[in-house]
Amino acid sequence: MKRLLVGYRAQDLFVKGRRGAKQPSPLLDGEVTCHVLDIYHRHAIEKTHHVKAVCSAHLPEGPWDEIYFKTGPKLMSGELSLDMLQEISRLTGGDLRPPRFHLEFEGKERDRNALLEKIVGDPGRVRDFSSTWRASVPGCEPIELTSLPGCFCHRRADDGGLALAEVVSRELSARGDAAEGLEFLDMGCGCGLVGFLVASAVKGVGLVMVDSHSRAVEAANLNSKRLGIPAEIILSDNGTPARMDGSFDVFAGNPPYYSDYRIAEVFLETAVRALKPGGTCYTVVKNDAGLKPVQERYFPSVEVVRRRGYCVLKSVKTA
Ligand SMILES: C[S@@+](CC[C@H](N)C(=O)[O-])C[C@H]1O[C@@H](n2cnc3c(N)ncnc32)[C@H](O)[C@@H]1O
Repeated sequence: MKRLLVGYRAQDLFVKGRRGAKQPSPLLDGEVTCHVLDIYHRHAIEKTHHVKAVCSAHLPEGPWDEIYFKTGPKLMSGELSLDMLQEISRLTGGDLRPPRFHLEFEGKERDRNALLEKIVGDPGRVRDFSSTWRASVPGCEPIELTSLPGCFCHRRADDGGLALAEVVSRELSARGDAAEGLEFLDMGCGCGLVGFLVASAVKGVGLVMVDSHSRAVEAANLNSKRLGIPAEIILSDNGTPARMDGSFDVFAGNPPYYSDYRIAEVFLETAVRALKPGGTCYTVVKNDAGLKPVQERYFPSVEVVRRRGYCVLKSVKTA
């Protein structure tokens, strides 16, 4: 019996046993593969459970005897749930009922039924959930970027990302010919908003992008090809130590702030490791009061550049 679990995190794969003790969920019995979209969750599952975990932008082909899908409004956007369910429906030949398919929906019954009905009620329809939109920095032609459900800020440019791209583009352009050949690291690249805008404004920049989300990496690869801007695009949640070898001139990151500054610190640790002495680190945040003291622990000084209601925090690596 080959079972595919979709949307489960490490903590979802426990049940309460006798006296409230945590024990592995019965879902893990047998030949099980867990699919996740973010490599952080693959690492967490592999560390916690003895089970195969796959991180990819699309579901593994199988064949699968059973597919379990965990979702709900607090776990995934409606569009991502629909996109995943459409993929599951293709893998089960349209059979979205037990025993072939099980939906664990955290939310209201009517929302659960509405989600299922959108796919079951219209079996022949294959929806394209990608979105293509334009973004630009002052003085440059707009570029077209494609994002996918699961990408941060799907269907539009994030203002924080735009503020970061504008400040970095302006400062690198001001270096004139000296900007040619600079090695630029865009961490948490999403679909590539910051990196591609900077590379379109400052010619000859060598672009490396990193993201922990497989859909971000897929979208960034797609955008690199469509824009004709070469980039090395890496799936990683730990700053990929092998590549982060002190060879970068510029680091830019728009980290997520949902776990206080824990992820921002992963970004800053990477920046310190990745930059050459004299290299510049730029991060962006809505309000600098929280991030500035954190960044000061990694760099000797932090300059705040205000743009679009955001703060871009600039630091230079010394020795
Ligand atoms: C706020 S979004 C920024 C996306 C894009 N740079 C922009 O400005 O629109 C943060 C990105 O960081 C990624 N991310 C989160 N933790 C990460 C980690 N440990 N390593 C690399 N990327 C990470 C997320 O997947 C997400 O794409």
